[in-house]
Amino acid sequence: MIHEEAVQPSGDAHDLLSASEGTETQAAFEAPLRGVLSPLAMRNLTLKNRVLRSSISGRFDHEDGTPTQTRLNWETLSAEGGVGAIITSYVPVLMSGRIIAGYATIHEDRLIEPWSDIARAVHNYGTKMIMQLSHSGRQMDVPGVQNLHQSTLSSTDRPESLHGFPTRAMTISEIEHMVHAFARAAWRAREAGMDGVELHAANGYLFSQFLSSGINDRRDRYGGSLFNRARFLLDVIRAIRAEVGSSFHLQVKLSAIDLNDVIPGERRGNSLDESIEVARWVETAGADALHVSIGSLFPHPLNPPGDFAFNTIASTYDAMLSSGEHTFRNYLFFRYPTLRPLFALLWNRMKRGRPVEGVSAAEALAIKRAVGIPVISTGGWQTRSAIDSRIEAGHFDAVAIARGLIANPDLVRHWEAGLEVPPRPCTHCNKCLLNAPKNPLGCYEPSRFDGDPDRMIEAIMRIYRVSSELVVPHE
Ligand SMILES: Cc1cc2nc3c(=O)[nH]c(=O)nc-3n(C[C@H](O)[C@H](O)[C@H](O)COP(=O)(O)O)c2cc1C
Ligand code: SF4
Repeated sequence: MIHEEAVQPSGDAHDLLSASEGTETQAAFEAPLRGVLSPLAMRNLTLKNRVLRSSISGRFDHEDGTPTQTRLNWETLSAEGGVGAIITSYVPVLMSGRIIAGYATIHEDRLIEPWSDIARAVHNYGTKMIMQLSHSGRQMDVPGVQNLHQSTLSSTDRPESLHGFPTRAMTISEIEHMVHAFARAAWRAREAGMDGVELHAANGYLFSQFLSSGINDRRDRYGGSLFNRARFLLDVIRAIRAEVGSSFHLQVKLSAIDLNDVIPGERRGNSLDESIEVARWVETAGADALHVSIGSLFPHPLNPPGDFAFNTIASTYDAMLSSGEHTFRNYLFFRYPTLRPLFALLWNRMKRGRPVEGVSAAEALAIKRAVGIPVISTGGWQTRSAIDSRIEAGHFDAVAIARGLIANPDLVRHWEAGLEVPPRPCTHCNKCLLNAPKNPLGCYEPSRFDGDPDRMIEAIMRIYRVSSELVVPHE
């Protein structure tokens, strides 16, 4: 691990990126050469390479939060393909924090045992496992029975801007209860044999709802100044450290920039400089690594970066129709081709000037310059040389990949064999994402299967094929 001198970043992150690319006197070039396939030693966790399978949620678990065989099949898929670590999909610390009913949780001690089976399965491939601890707050897709007929919990009473799920601001005692829930969840994750936990403090979920100036409108000690808005996250980090000690890996996924004004009328939210300040506080509070993303909504035009698959969402968004105040408005935009250009205009305006691969690489570099702990970049990564060159230049320490591994769980094997990208790379069409609320998780891009729907479905269903044996009580 490299501890570089903390450098106060100035100006725009893209200036910083081009400046560092142009001069060999930067600290980045003093870092020893190392590529994506080299090991990564963090304070409490060493990975065999610098590829983390990013969090990817799918509907494959039981209604009571128990993980299933399908989940185990899914989490081991890219472990078999050689990644250094798997970050589990979003794992709620309370039932009220589910995005979609059918996600495994870690809200009770009884869940330690099934999760330990999954950790063991992943470890069998020499891959480490990090559990992403999360709470949806006001941002969810299909709320589930625990959230029926009641408002979700948030920092604010204002519904989320995209779908409009009803919400209410948490009381101080509810915040304290939530802090405790995260600490207990981290303890359960450690008991289950996980190698670490990640706090999902990015992309609009509960932590973002406190951090973001575009969302948090509280007037108590959890709102107002940046430090007050960061208090909930910092309280959770300290509570986890008190619960599990200092030698258990803890990383935090942060949005480097909020760009919260996807829907006109919303405030823009946190700037890069504010997120850099939060990153420093997170490091001081006891985090071992930072995972840098972008955007204070999910999905967001920049996360996951790429296309907006209108034909897909037109056939899946009905699963969310009754959940939010704005879902019918959205459905009309998605369903009727004449309305789509207006939505596309709004959605695509934030993408200008940004690449798909490494969409927030410049922001990861800016954060890397400001902290001493390793930085993981997510967003569009799939080409080995593009990643190697940045890791070798010290722009960040590792990548977290989601869709590249949905398309090719054996991506690392292709790189090991000397390929830049697999023969059928991810097209970043986002059909996997927009199918997720309604359909099984997998790659839905027919061109990757030569247009053959049977082969596509066969590939999607490989993790859903489980033993047909049912357990009969008292036998
Ligand atoms: C189907 C799908 C589900 C996702 N679920 C999660 C999640 O549960 N937690 C999370 O932090 N990010 C989630 N993401 C975002 C990814 O982890 C990742 O940060 C993002 O897709 C950008 O990386 P990529 O370009 O490699 O896909 C999801 C993405 C997809 C496509
Ligand atoms: S559907 Fe397949 S090709 Fe399209 S973004 Fe998802 S993984 Fe990539």
